[in-house]
Amino acid sequence: MSDAAERHRRQVESWNGPMGQQWAQNEARTERGLMPLTEALLAAAAAQPGERVLDIGCGCGGYTLALGRAVGATGRVTGADVSTAVLEVAEATKADNTGYVLADASTHDFAGTAADLLTSRFGVMFFGDPDAAFANLHRALKPSGRLVFACWRAVADNPWARIPQQAIFSVIDRPPPPHPEEPGPFAFGDEARIRRILAAGGFKDPAITPFDFEMLFPADPAAAAAAISTGPIGGRLLRDKPDEVRAAAVAAIAAAVTPCVSNGFTRLGASVWIVIARA
Ligand SMILES: C[S@@+](CC[C@H](N)C(=O)[O-])C[C@H]1O[C@@H](n2cnc3c(N)ncnc32)[C@H](O)[C@@H]1O
Repeated sequence: MSDAAERHRRQVESWNGPMGQQWAQNEARTERGLMPLTEALLAAAAAQPGERVLDIGCGCGGYTLALGRAVGATGRVTGADVSTAVLEVAEATKADNTGYVLADASTHDFAGTAADLLTSRFGVMFFGDPDAAFANLHRALKPSGRLVFACWRAVADNPWARIPQQAIFSVIDRPPPPHPEEPGPFAFGDEARIRRILAAGGFKDPAITPFDFEMLFPADPAAAAAAISTGPIGGRLLRDKPDEVRAAAVAAIAAAVTPCVSNGFTRLGASVWIVIARA
């Protein structure tokens, strides 16, 4: 198995294991936290009544349902995800014009999909071979179709990730830096890399725009830290640690986020790229 294939296999395994379970458990909190971004992404996607839409890495379906409201009764939104845990949540809340498919989007045969819009909220950064995966996604679009997705910028630009990560590294050893092509939430932080992947996939005229917002956590830093410790950063770094290490990390996160409390919330900055391209 090539290194890229092995990196991909680890991602699929993780989304069908602890990552997927954690994402499913935190669904309501995640949806609330991402609301400003969801609105901006929906505006960029500009889904129209009657359109066919494919939502890649749809997770528990919150964004899929919002797209369904935009395309109306004559449109159709299909969410594709590789994780059974998140699709169970999505299936339980699906609407008449939304449906889901359990699929690895990097290789799934999308021939015949003829989507007007291929979109994703944080679901396209987990492919071991992103060039090949985006070439595969390209086949799902009509010739007149468009691609619109959101991905995180670098950790350094995301205090919601950077601050807890630094706090956790005061308690546990910092793991070695990831391989430059390692898939993961921050794999698309580098704008030049996104442009390379889009070009390799056959997408044209990319527009890559930064969008900043605040992630809101409970005003009590201890409660905020408890939530953060099971989120994308804390979950990954602390999942296998003994209780006393996790408790020390939660205390360190609480101390680190205390200066970020104002007006009823712990407010941590978030920054993403909103990417638009043509088929
Ligand atoms: C960070 S979550 C985002 C979920 C959802 N889009 C949201 O915003 O709530 C990433 C999602 O991508 C899915 N995913 C990862 N690799 C995938 C692949 N190769 N094919 C399809 N989905 C994948 C995961 O299972 C997960 O549900």
